[in-house]
Amino acid sequence: MENLELLAEPDLVGRENELETLQHYLDLAVQGKGTTVFVSGEAGSGKTRLVNEFLSASKQKRDINQLSGWCLSNSVIPYFPFMEAFNVYSSGYSKKGSSSGMRQGGLQQGLEKEGLVVDEELGLRAWLMGPGKTERKRELEELSPQAWKDSTFAAVTKALFSMSAKKPTILFIDDLQWADTASLTLLQYISRFIASEKVLILSTFRSEDLNPDSEGHPHPLADTLRLMSRENLYKEIKLQSLNRFSVSLLAEDMVGGHIQADLAEKLAVESQGNPLFIVESLKMLLEGGGLIQENDRWRLSTGKIGIPTKIKDILVRRLGVLKPAQRKMLEIASVIGYKFNPELLASVAAQDSLETLETLNSIEQSTSLVIGEGDMYRFDHGKYREALYEEISQPLRRAYHGRIAERIKSSRSAAGKLPVGDLAFHYAEAGNKEKAVKYSLDAGQEALKIYSGTEAIKHFRYVLDATTDIEKYADEMMIALEGLGDGLYAKGRCGEATEVFERLSKNTTSNSVKARALGKAIDASFFWGEYSRTLDYADRIVEYPELTPLERARVRFNRAKARAWGGEFVETSSAHYLKEMEESLRVFEGEYSLSDIHSTLLEMTTAYVSNDQLENAIAAAIRARALSEFSKNAGETAMVASWMSLTYSITKLEDEGLKALEDAIRVNEKISDPVSRAFVETTTYWMSGQLIEAKAASKLFSGLPLETMRSFGAGAKFKFFMSSLISGALRDFKQSLKAAIAQSLKGAACADETDSYFYKTFNYGNLVREYSLLGDIEHAEEYYKKLKKIFDDTSISGIFHSRAAYASVRATYFSSRKKWKEANQFHEEAIAIYDSGQIAGDRTMPIAGERQAYCWDLLQQGRFSDAKIQFEKAKRAMEDLDRRFEHSNVIGHIIGPARVKLGIEFNMRLDLINVAKNPAVLIQIEELVPSEFSIVSMQPSYNVQKNAAELEKKSLKPFTDDAITFTLKATKTGDFNLNPQLIYVNELGETKICKVDPISITVLPPDAVGSSQKGDA
Ligand SMILES: Nc1ncnc2c1ncn2[C@@H]1O[C@H](COP(=O)(O)OP(=O)(O)O)[C@@H](O)[C@H]1O
Ligand SMILES: [Mg+2]
Repeated sequence: MENLELLAEPDLVGRENELETLQHYLDLAVQGKGTTVFVSGEAGSGKTRLVNEFLSASKQKRDINQLSGWCLSNSVIPYFPFMEAFNVYSSGYSKKGSSSGMRQGGLQQGLEKEGLVVDEELGLRAWLMGPGKTERKRELEELSPQAWKDSTFAAVTKALFSMSAKKPTILFIDDLQWADTASLTLLQYISRFIASEKVLILSTFRSEDLNPDSEGHPHPLADTLRLMSRENLYKEIKLQSLNRFSVSLLAEDMVGGHIQADLAEKLAVESQGNPLFIVESLKMLLEGGGLIQENDRWRLSTGKIGIPTKIKDILVRRLGVLKPAQRKMLEIASVIGYKFNPELLASVAAQDSLETLETLNSIEQSTSLVIGEGDMYRFDHGKYREALYEEISQPLRRAYHGRIAERIKSSRSAAGKLPVGDLAFHYAEAGNKEKAVKYSLDAGQEALKIYSGTEAIKHFRYVLDATTDIEKYADEMMIALEGLGDGLYAKGRCGEATEVFERLSKNTTSNSVKARALGKAIDASFFWGEYSRTLDYADRIVEYPELTPLERARVRFNRAKARAWGGEFVETSSAHYLKEMEESLRVFEGEYSLSDIHSTLLEMTTAYVSNDQLENAIAAAIRARALSEFSKNAGETAMVASWMSLTYSITKLEDEGLKALEDAIRVNEKISDPVSRAFVETTTYWMSGQLIEAKAASKLFSGLPLETMRSFGAGAKFKFFMSSLISGALRDFKQSLKAAIAQSLKGAACADETDSYFYKTFNYGNLVREYSLLGDIEHAEEYYKKLKKIFDDTSISGIFHSRAAYASVRATYFSSRKKWKEANQFHEEAIAIYDSGQIAGDRTMPIAGERQAYCWDLLQQGRFSDAKIQFEKAKRAMEDLDRRFEHSNVIGHIIGPARVKLGIEFNMRLDLINVAKNPAVLIQIEELVPSEFSIVSMQPSYNVQKNAAELEKKSLKPFTDDAITFTLKATKTGDFNLNPQLIYVNELGETKICKVDPISITVLPPDAVGSSQKGDA
């Protein structure tokens, strides 16, 4: 103990550059240019030390907020680092309502002092804890998991930004390699928004820990880093090992004197410049008398103790200084975790808590192996916990885990809110299968509730593995299967999810579970791209008596959707599936289920187009977008915005399409989940690549002087002629192609985040075409191979839409290689499929586009008269389309419940959409509501006289939805028809009438059963 003072922490050495870099990023953050900075390096390289040094220095220099969180070594509590950072975590082991309330009070007061209200509806703590954890409004409890996550992320971001609005704020999270995936996505999300905020995010991680797990799944942090780097969201400081000079400096500082060259050399070589190694080996040597001072210099005392080559050996040897009772204490602590609650420790060790605290205190004093922090203790370094843990014999380890689980459970029984993830972990490690299964199921459900797919998968997989073929666990297995499917689906692993739901549907004995499983299999298989399966599942359950009318309508709708896309698998005509969709829509409207309505409408757009009802298609897309605002799920909204661009693309309204995509990108910002984002982004980039390309192509095309071309022959001569004639336009076109490629590449990267080959084909197809057109044969081939593999290996070639698109892409690909026979053949094939009427989505514009490309190729082959035929057909079609949306054209649609009760208020909505490039002026709505209904309120409010509303010459802008919403009350029972008509004036001053499709409402007596409005608006 005589060397005690020498064991003090050495001064920081050799990190001047890193400190300067950190300072630079803080300066930027202070100017409102926030960044996320990762400090990475191996265990013991000095990450934590560097950041702490920096934090305390900057605290002295500037008035800043500092929030610090750290990660649990077994990442079982979602959002734990953020709860720590915002000081809202109530420890997993505390006495009746003690610290949680106080801590929250502390935060609340703290934030209020900063002039903040964290969240109007819920405290930050409640959001982070997840649904069902605290008392709160029922309406919020019913949020979908995805929406819950979006709101949580928004609340945390808001809290952080209101703090940083007052003064610059540093958020520090240590040991990110242990973070749960919810925290990782939250970190990524916040990073996206700090570029113009006074926020610096600092985080450390162990670089050697990012290996894939035993099943080859990437480490969650590795995943996050890849996603973040794609968006350029972070900077990284990689900590190098200390150089020889710094090693000596450090050592001399520690021993408090000069050291012999030989010792310096040995330290540097053995430690390879790892500070933890150096610090700990010196402590070991000093404690064990391995160092002696001679001639004013320290050297190794001969032979007695050398320096081990492995850090773990040093650590284990240092643990040797502990007395047996101390050692036992720390062993138990190492089973609890890197940071541990002394009370839990005492209880597990069956010791008096005072005694435990005394032991910990003496360990801290004599060895600094543990450090007290607030109510908690932690190991000086994570490596100590690992070394100790590994030293415990297997049976003892299990017994400790079991005891810990029991103690956690009994201490919490009063409060009733168990840290189920913790329990699942400890019981599993204890080998207590029954309890591990029980708590893993709970933990899995909790993970699903906060939309944390990775954790959910882990928990449910455990259950399935543990219960295979064990009769008495049949129920648990079914729950785990469903949960696993949900988790996989949430992670965009649609194929695996489909298989799991299918397995569940076969194994369950409950009809309602079976119906639910098949319902979920329908969604998963559709996203995956396996429409024949979607159809099969739908056929199997559509007549199930267990389905409610709403559920049955959903199945029918999905079946129609799969038919629309599925092509070859079905005989149905587009008119037939449009009808089925319309009927489902009636049911959704009758139930006033807005989220069903908007997704149905979106899907109906392609069905309308197939039936040449382009105006209805556009109106449906615009309504879908307007109604999606009522969805609390940003993912759905962004999806609608993104997909509606397809409608604009096939109606040749490219600029509207691009506008829709800008909107999609804006909404997508709000989405917390990377997989949902990937689906939206891949669609967005696919379409924007396509729209940019299509716009450029038709511009180039319209300038073709076809009549004068004949005399210039084919091949090289033709090429020369073309390039001199339209060189400027060609250059523009190439520029546009490059812009399109940039979009499609991003889209492909997003699609690769999922296993949906359907989505992958979009962007791969774009890339083959765009590279081919650009003449970049090499890249074209790269993506052609990928695309071909999907078509060869999967059932996607059975889908008409995909097959047509594939043929079209191949035509361009072969034409770029001057293989005219193939090129021509594929052009013909694409046109034929588009023209067959089987396809979801139209013929007109895709065919015109195809003919345009075909014409181009025929010209190069010197086939002028054939080229002219294609040219003329394409041109006519495009001109028709341009004209079709010229004059103001208002389409109205009314949504109301099918049944209401007398005297009870209900909602109704009238959408007015102008499907034209010119505005319309609304004059009046006649027959607005039957006189038996009284209008309680109306938004916007108009003057209603004798059932007619005067609209004060309201102007309806092109391609927008102006809705009027009503709250009504029926004053009489019976059946009533609503049959409104709109009077408007078009841009030529002509008066027009728009008849809205009528609906009927049945008014029931107030005591009738099962008929109230169910809706979300
Ligand atoms: N540059 C340095 N100068 C002096 N001591 C250091 C330096 N870097 C790390 N240390 C010491 O080495 C040990 C391990 O550092 P730590 O920051 O905990 O490593 P990490 O967080 O990278 O695992 C600590 O005792 C720390 O004080
Ligand atoms: Mg550390």
